[in-house]
Amino acid sequence: MYLKASQQIVTIDGPSGVGKSTISRKVASALSFIYLDTGAMYRAVGLKLKQAGIDLQDDTAVRNCLASMSLELIPATDESEDVGVVLDGRDVSLEIRSPEMAMVASAASALPVVREKLTQMQQEIGSKGRIVAEGRDTGTIVFPQAAWKFYLDAAPEVRMQRRAEQLRGQGKQVNEKELLDMIIKRDYDDQTRSIAPLCKAEDARVIDTGALSIEEVAETMLKAIELVK
Ligand code: DC
Repeated sequence: MYLKASQQIVTIDGPSGVGKSTISRKVASALSFIYLDTGAMYRAVGLKLKQAGIDLQDDTAVRNCLASMSLELIPATDESEDVGVVLDGRDVSLEIRSPEMAMVASAASALPVVREKLTQMQQEIGSKGRIVAEGRDTGTIVFPQAAWKFYLDAAPEVRMQRRAEQLRGQGKQVNEKELLDMIIKRDYDDQTRSIAPLCKAEDARVIDTGALSIEEVAETMLKAIELVK
């Protein structure tokens, strides 16, 4: 099947803690595609607005703040590492990965001006194809033309346990009840916002990652991708 460059895109959407990042990195590495972590971009914008003390209701202030922003994604050197982020010349890679910053990112991501700016940046990055884009709206809004779309899902408790393990691995203390509440609230906020809510693209293939290992999910996806190549 002939695919234009702009269609040679894998989109991987789904709620938080479903294994999207690890799986996206694996799939990108297996295909030798670039991994685009759109969540990292929303986290960086959240941090920028928070540090500048911007009122999220003030559209003009948000717009002005974003106009002066420089945002650079640094590809991970290793499949097991997160993408790095340099915001206004400062490395914020670690700072943006806390559960608190996830909530800040979720609030910022509900603003139309933020989505407009980041969607445009993501489309530019993906214009030459050969990328694996991961997020909430990559198959629906950012790259509706993508040839391979996936929607990953799993029960909130399963996702909480995975995130807890990840945080413990980083030497952090975890309150499981708080973490579960945060996941449920973030799902709700991401699914009910009026602009680009988290939802499955009609033509996306759904995979429940609860019962599968990361390797099994990646393998399922790579097989499906091979069929449409
Ligand atoms: O994937 P993540 O947990 O790093 O994303 C952080 C937040 O950013 C998430 O709560 C919702 C938002 N987000 C979004 O709205 N659209 C995307 N494409 C990616 C992330």
